[in-house]
Amino acid sequence: MSEAKFRTPKGTSDILPEDHQYHTYIKKAVRHRCRQAGFKRIDTPLFEKKEIFERGIGEHTDIVEKELFMVGSHHSEEGMEAFALRPEFTASICRSYIEHGMKQLPQPVELYSIGPAFRHDRPQKGRYRQFHQFDLEVIGLSDPSLDAQLIHVCNKIFKDLRIFDRLTMQLNNIGTAENREEYIAALKDYFIGKERNLPDLDRTRLETNPLRLLDSKEEDTQILLKNAPTLDQFIGDESKEYHETVKEYLGELGAEYVENSHLVRGLDYYNQTVFEYWDNDTGGKNAVGGGGRYDPLIEMLGGQATPGVGFAGGMERIIYQMKQAGVQAPHKDQIDVFVAQLGPEAKKKCLSTISELRDLGVHTLGALGEASLKSQMRLADKFGAKYTLLLGQMEVKAGTIILRDMAAGKQKESKFEKAVPEIIKLIGKENLDTYVLRDGFNEQDED
Ligand code: HAM
Repeated sequence: MSEAKFRTPKGTSDILPEDHQYHTYIKKAVRHRCRQAGFKRIDTPLFEKKEIFERGIGEHTDIVEKELFMVGSHHSEEGMEAFALRPEFTASICRSYIEHGMKQLPQPVELYSIGPAFRHDRPQKGRYRQFHQFDLEVIGLSDPSLDAQLIHVCNKIFKDLRIFDRLTMQLNNIGTAENREEYIAALKDYFIGKERNLPDLDRTRLETNPLRLLDSKEEDTQILLKNAPTLDQFIGDESKEYHETVKEYLGELGAEYVENSHLVRGLDYYNQTVFEYWDNDTGGKNAVGGGGRYDPLIEMLGGQATPGVGFAGGMERIIYQMKQAGVQAPHKDQIDVFVAQLGPEAKKKCLSTISELRDLGVHTLGALGEASLKSQMRLADKFGAKYTLLLGQMEVKAGTIILRDMAAGKQKESKFEKAVPEIIKLIGKENLDTYVLRDGFNEQDED
């Protein structure tokens, strides 16, 4: 039993160092593939005016109706403002596109973002209240080649993470907003006189968002739906052609998919292409990512009509798949050298050695406390240090230091000044953890 009195709030979790290795790995793959394809990074605030999500994602979607995390109402010059933590990135990024006049830039504007999102859903396996997404958006042009290229970038990322073989990409075209309006009208017509047989929740949905009946879990609804009109009967010729071209381009890129006419996605802003990545075991229940075209969104948010297509991957679900597949996330957190010391003089003397080793790119720990040399050695072992430097009172007097190879269990005494060059030789220059700031850019680990 843990002694913890306080725990993480329900549906959230700490990202402990072991899992950070996976997060870093995913971020690296995303950054790499995004840069190759001309995407630039953007970060928007973790919270926005609630209205942005209501207008964008849709007032009667699950995400807005049930899952928004409100962050209180605050007075502003215009009156009371309600804010919500972002449940996803797309609406915020489009808000930013409009706000910063990105229409003036060469189109399409390709943006990506990585960070937490919040949905106040009932937590269960694979569904959390705080989770992490990486998100790619291509805004400003509508062309089947952009949909296909975006999917191809996503495929590359999943291949880099070595889980691609566990996934199947589900693809559909849900037509234009007009096609869907016609379909919704037909669906409502079909249910006239049948409302009484619908469960309460679905009867309400028929009024507010009839498309949601399609993925209802209620048996009665499912039975009624068997003879109902289907969306594909309402898709116009233009959309059909668009879809065929997307598939042709995917074929050209060697990207495989499964056509799934039931895939509608739970957000209102989509039109035309929609897609999701399902793992081969659980199917659509815990999709590792999804996206699609959202040509109406920017106008819904008050901008000039501007098309877009995008995708978001769920990092926790991806990490789960990586672990299931036995994928190890490489990391650089190993301890190379542990410096053990005894006595105040030795402790003082080894501080600059520790600092020097660190500056040279050697991961070094030491001068931790007053314990005996023996227990410090045990600690060095537990930290997994490759080498230990030992500095006792005798060595201080003699101007020497002991270097121990932990795996070989061998040690030798050398001159104190020789310790650092000796360690560098043993570790090898190519294994040193150094980074250079080139042209103002840190080429290595960005956040
Ligand atoms: P979404 O399908 O709502 O799409 O979420 C994308 C992915 O985020 C999901 O496939 C899943 O992996 C992960 N996810 C969503 N909710 C949770 C949760 N409660 N717990 C854990 N993981 C979760 C979007 O968010 C769209 N904005 C994608 C997009 C970008 N469309 C166009 N551009």
